[in-house]
Amino acid sequence: MNHKKIIAFNWKMNPGSLKQARALLNVANHAGLKSKNSRVVVFPPFEYVFSYDFWGHAAKITKGAQDCFWQARGPYTGQISPRSLKQAGISWVIIGHSEKRIHGNETNLQIAKKLKTAVRTGLQPLLCLGDDAFSHKQGIIRTKQCIRKQLHESLSLLSSADIKEIVFVYEPIWAISAVSHGKTDDPVHAARMVSYLKELLVKEFRFPDSRVLYGGSVNAKTVSKFLGFDDINGFLVGAASLKPDQVSGIIRAIENNS
Ligand code: 13P
Repeated sequence: MNHKKIIAFNWKMNPGSLKQARALLNVANHAGLKSKNSRVVVFPPFEYVFSYDFWGHAAKITKGAQDCFWQARGPYTGQISPRSLKQAGISWVIIGHSEKRIHGNETNLQIAKKLKTAVRTGLQPLLCLGDDAFSHKQGIIRTKQCIRKQLHESLSLLSSADIKEIVFVYEPIWAISAVSHGKTDDPVHAARMVSYLKELLVKEFRFPDSRVLYGGSVNAKTVSKFLGFDDINGFLVGAASLKPDQVSGIIRAIENNS
């Protein structure tokens, strides 16, 4: 199946002001408007997610949130209601990002609960899976085992119909710019892991046309190295998504390659 490439910009806790956030959104929107072959999804921090002043009329942008809770609503202090996200016009949600797993002690079971509620609330989940540096150093067999375990446990509460609603991301933790200082995964290795995930989804979940993105220090310069691999359906981008020239460069590179 020939899908548009998904360009998912994860802003994490940035930028620091509404003015900067709107300027960045405008850059992504303008670059996106010139692109026929990509779908641009922006995941801002929560202070902007619920702000109409922030989103305005960015016609090319799909609205995302960086997390949600596993109950649709209720007495859960500090949690984000998936139903409120949906009502606010948010359509995508990141679930299982390694920074939530590490700093929020999030488990695969909690991720499974979040996925189930997100799908059933009508949100499009983006499930992040990734190996740590220790598993990576032990080689490809260990890396695959690690990803397979995360995948099975994260999908443990979902029906096969639910699973078909998910978009997946292979995002090795050791390649994220916050820890790798910009060192990207080798595109051949990244593509091999993306293909492995797709194979697992076919063989073990009867899901033949899954979409799997790659994430980890992708920027306007490195993105073209990954574009030669058809199995990679797009990118989850962190640090580079905060720089206007990088944002337009990434979108342009994908357009030129299509
Ligand atoms: P970087 O692109 O900064 O490595 O971040 C990747 C990431 O964590 C996206 O969710």
